[in-house]
Amino acid sequence: MFNSLPPLARWGRAFFALASITLLSGCDFNFWRMDGHQSTMVVDGSVARQQLEVFYVTCWVSLVVFVIVAAVLAYAMIKFRARNEADEHAEPPPQGHGNPLIELGLIGASVLSLVIIAVPTLKAIWSTYDVPEAEKKDAYEVTATAYQWWFRFEYPSEIAAVNASGAKAPVIAANELVIPAGRPIRINLRTVDVIHSFWVPKLAGKVDMIPNRANFIFVRADKPGYFWGQCAEFCGDSHAVMRFRVVALDKKEFAEWVEQQGQLARNVAATAVATTTTPQFTALRKFAQNEAGITDKFEVNPLESWRTKQLPEKDENTALIAKGRQLFSAKTCIACHSIRGHDGAGVSAPDLTHVGSRTTIAAGLLENNSQQLRRWIRDPGSVKPGNKMAKAYLENKISLNDEEQVALVAYLESLK
Ligand code: CUA
Repeated sequence: MFNSLPPLARWGRAFFALASITLLSGCDFNFWRMDGHQSTMVVDGSVARQQLEVFYVTCWVSLVVFVIVAAVLAYAMIKFRARNEADEHAEPPPQGHGNPLIELGLIGASVLSLVIIAVPTLKAIWSTYDVPEAEKKDAYEVTATAYQWWFRFEYPSEIAAVNASGAKAPVIAANELVIPAGRPIRINLRTVDVIHSFWVPKLAGKVDMIPNRANFIFVRADKPGYFWGQCAEFCGDSHAVMRFRVVALDKKEFAEWVEQQGQLARNVAATAVATTTTPQFTALRKFAQNEAGITDKFEVNPLESWRTKQLPEKDENTALIAKGRQLFSAKTCIACHSIRGHDGAGVSAPDLTHVGSRTTIAAGLLENNSQQLRRWIRDPGSVKPGNKMAKAYLENKISLNDEEQVALVAYLESLK
């Protein structure tokens, strides 16, 4: 059959086979190791591992069934094929009405293969649904709330600590969920608008976030690491770029992070050495649509990049930071965002109190560096179509010139 194709079509097929491998390699996916940021084949959590085992059982059972059926089919096709002209025109042989022994045997074999798949499946559903009873005491609780198109992460146990002492601010993060490694994490899944879905492929399967429904998911990271997450339910224009990250830390580092996030926004003294020369505010270069916002350097060791982000930026320009802080109010950013301890009480957009300590912005789409941050605040609609910030810019006629962009970026980057 294949040989009867004209040569062009044959080459076409070969080309598409090669192209699909090339395309797969384009999306950070290592074909031979079956690994990538969002691979479900190479996992880093106990829940995902159990789910992967179910996948393998199903795969092997299907493969055995496929090989047996294909072998019998091939045997029948070769053995009973037409061998000459006379065979081709012969009457069909007498039709049988089945063999009870074979039929019962096939029913038995089908039931057996379904049971082989059902037992581990039910076991996995049972044990990955919620934190096991014996580990409930050690479980850590987080609340994830989806918005079009970003995630808010709250830490209810840390908020309780605030109420007791009154000294700390609540811990509220956005788009980066920091968790203690090794511990079972119970994540409450909420949404304020449409249905979204919470998915960190290397840690656990997806669970939907449904309006007026208290869903939850149980995950556990084996060891400290940096994981890619994605909204997995179509939720509007920018669904495909509604991403997030999970950062798992050891006990000590996690405690330090909570301590840091419990602080009010960092103040940078504007009285420090003022710049003597006026900085040159160059225009930001043009970005192609869908241009990647994450650098290769970051990809090498994202967890290390995360750690670097916890520290103040080098060469902070205090005058610019003070200007940026003013602009944050003047440009009405405060209506939607809040920076606890500074200005703003908005809750409809990500809390920016510690935005400088995150590795990404725009819901995991862009790396949090001055260039990408400026790209985002200058023209958010070009990065994430349909988002509320872009609409607010239009409705309120907000625009930022080069100097204002640079000042706002300096301020946001100072918020560690
Ligand atoms: Cu949120 Cu798709």
